[in-house]
Amino acid sequence: MGPQRKELDSNTPLTIVIVGGSGDLARRKILPALFQLHCRQLLPKKFHIIGFSRTPMSHEEFRQKTTEFLTCRYVPQSRCQEHMDDFLAHCYYATGNYDSADSFLDLFQTMKKLEGERLVHRLYYLAIPPSIFLNTARSLGNAGLVHCGPSPAWSRVVIEKPFGRDRQSSDVMAQELAKVFGERDIYRIDHYLGKEVIQNLMVLRFANPIFEPLWSREYIESVQISWKEDIGIEGRGGYFDEYGIIRDVMQNHLLQILSLAAMEKPASLDSQAVRDEKVRVLKCVPALTRDDLVIGQYRGIERDGKRQPSYAEEDKVRPDSITPTYAAAVLRIQNERWEGVPFLIRAGKALDGRMTEVRVRFRARPQNLYQEILPDLPHNELVIRIQPDEAIYFKIVNKVPGLSLNLVSTDLDLKYKSAFKGDEIPDAYETLLVDALRGEKSLFIRNDELAAAWDIFTPVLHELEEKKVRPELYDFGGKGPKSTDKLLDRYGKVWE
Ligand code: BG6
Repeated sequence: MGPQRKELDSNTPLTIVIVGGSGDLARRKILPALFQLHCRQLLPKKFHIIGFSRTPMSHEEFRQKTTEFLTCRYVPQSRCQEHMDDFLAHCYYATGNYDSADSFLDLFQTMKKLEGERLVHRLYYLAIPPSIFLNTARSLGNAGLVHCGPSPAWSRVVIEKPFGRDRQSSDVMAQELAKVFGERDIYRIDHYLGKEVIQNLMVLRFANPIFEPLWSREYIESVQISWKEDIGIEGRGGYFDEYGIIRDVMQNHLLQILSLAAMEKPASLDSQAVRDEKVRVLKCVPALTRDDLVIGQYRGIERDGKRQPSYAEEDKVRPDSITPTYAAAVLRIQNERWEGVPFLIRAGKALDGRMTEVRVRFRARPQNLYQEILPDLPHNELVIRIQPDEAIYFKIVNKVPGLSLNLVSTDLDLKYKSAFKGDEIPDAYETLLVDALRGEKSLFIRNDELAAAWDIFTPVLHELEEKKVRPELYDFGGKGPKSTDKLLDRYGKVWE
């Protein structure tokens, strides 16, 4: 974050191994992000990228597949092909099984041949299902692919959520992974932390002194964090049915946003200091209870002659599945700053739009001077829109221009598109990959942070499963389960 960011060691060669290199995550996100870094000269002078997967493929086929999702955002279109060819010339492919020691020994040989030198940094990106993380990490270690001891070259591993299914399985995973990689070399991705506006949350709070005195229970009535998508689970039924929306989005993306919005000011921008504060605030959040949670699942509808399937009809979903695709919850933070302020968080698939935002609602003050003109003065709200159309706006009451005194709520509006014309908003993966290469860890999840996040949700997740609680059905493309309103009424709030 900011000027203290660590520098990239551009003189030491680098090998990036993408385990699961033929998969969707690699092709749609990781390889395109690496290409952008290459275009911006943010990779070392000498580097190799090796895709490693079960699907047999030649280097050429891998390059061909990689091209499909590459776009030129940072170099002129006229030189696009040249940059792509140059990047693809660094890409290789190795076929192998994730649980076979021989496959990893073969991979080692391929790497050695390409590297040809002793001192090489290595980044392993495990773009594979979490069920095979551990075996793969062990195989990497057993095949001697992980530098250990006091070598100046590093071996880092990048993994993506879900990190376990609950506190216990997450701890087991952490302990096992620690047998191969030290915590220093583990980069747990929550790709929301790479999003531009989320990175701006700390800047907004701590670089603008106006907010600090207002940022507490005294002036803030509620904080709402909403996440919605207008699509279903799009072919990810196998994964989603195992995890559900609380594990897929709430326990990670939304809780990360919450911790950045609620944490105390860190001692410095050092990754240790930032993450210490995030953990501290998460530890003040008591475990979520059933009373403060609504769960839902989308049902199919007919719209404009087209049928949108219900969740239960999706491919690889159990027909009697009780996995929630929607959840709304109220979290509390028991500390001096936030006691009594509800944090209303919700996440849902197949709703009426795609949007992620934080809405900080300020308290009404007594004595409305404009009582006769506008008896219910609208609340001031600070809205931080993460996507789409990144923006920060502040809702204020204003006089409508004219000869009479009419009041209206309007927005003081900072739209990224117009305020930062010419500045490209990087994809979250570009930001995160460049940080992983630099060894900058503020945007990655620390072990104790993960544990604290699981502690908030584990009891209720277990209860839902033990009691086989059926989610309330809601229409595909609608607003979500009706019970959400009841939950929010208890706090006197409505979602926008
Ligand atoms: C992923 C979830 O972490 O984030 C998906 O597993 C979700 O279910 C996705 O669709 C959303 O990411 P983004 O960047 O498109 O908002």
